[in-house]
Amino acid sequence: TKEILIAPSILAADFARLGEEITAIDAAGADWIHCDVMDGHFVPNISFGADVIKAIRPMTKKVFDVHLMIAPVDPYIEAFAKAGADVITVHVEAGPHLDRSLQAIRALGKKAGVSLCPATPEAVVEYVLDRIDLVLVMTVNPGFGGQSFLESQIEKIGRIRTMIGDRPIRLEVDGGITGDTAVTVAAAGADTLVAGSAVFRGKNCAEYAANIAAIRLA
Ligand code: DX5
Ligand code: ZN
Repeated sequence: TKEILIAPSILAADFARLGEEITAIDAAGADWIHCDVMDGHFVPNISFGADVIKAIRPMTKKVFDVHLMIAPVDPYIEAFAKAGADVITVHVEAGPHLDRSLQAIRALGKKAGVSLCPATPEAVVEYVLDRIDLVLVMTVNPGFGGQSFLESQIEKIGRIRTMIGDRPIRLEVDGGITGDTAVTVAAAGADTLVAGSAVFRGKNCAEYAANIAAIRLA
């Protein structure tokens, strides 16, 4: 089995000290930096955009995992690529043409991800398997940190793991991930775990490191 990666979501960071927070989670052992971009239209919340990502990009060498919860998404893909995203994930529900969005991401030399909301069935992934580097299964409804993990998604994670087979595609989960739910999702086949509140609980690098270590150990 593949190594499990932990991707803290900076949505739960202190935005007044965002640069320091990036430095802290880098030192605390984060594998990837997960950036939740929300537009107040596709999801009922607004977070930050490409300029913020560009500003914090120099703070770490770690992979920037950019989760776009925006619709339309195509007009903004290039801006996030230029801002320094390594992985760009779009929502299948953001439409209108998922295949086109994924091609655009790869044409910019970035890794392409597709995300599914809780009510979206896994079949949507079937015909884009050769265009993606990552599938992101939302284990909460997108829009806010700190929500409860949806058990209904465990079966979907397992089915997507089977669909992926031996392809080099990471299977990421996002929402309500704690030491407890990490065990469940990893057993179901997830290999990349996003965690916001469970990592940024606490106030300094040592506490973040303990939080990341607790998830990893689980
Ligand atoms: C939800 C975001 C998640 C969220 C996770 O729309 O995509 O990344 O911040 O936060 P926690 O880990 O607190 O559920
Ligand atoms: Zn996310």
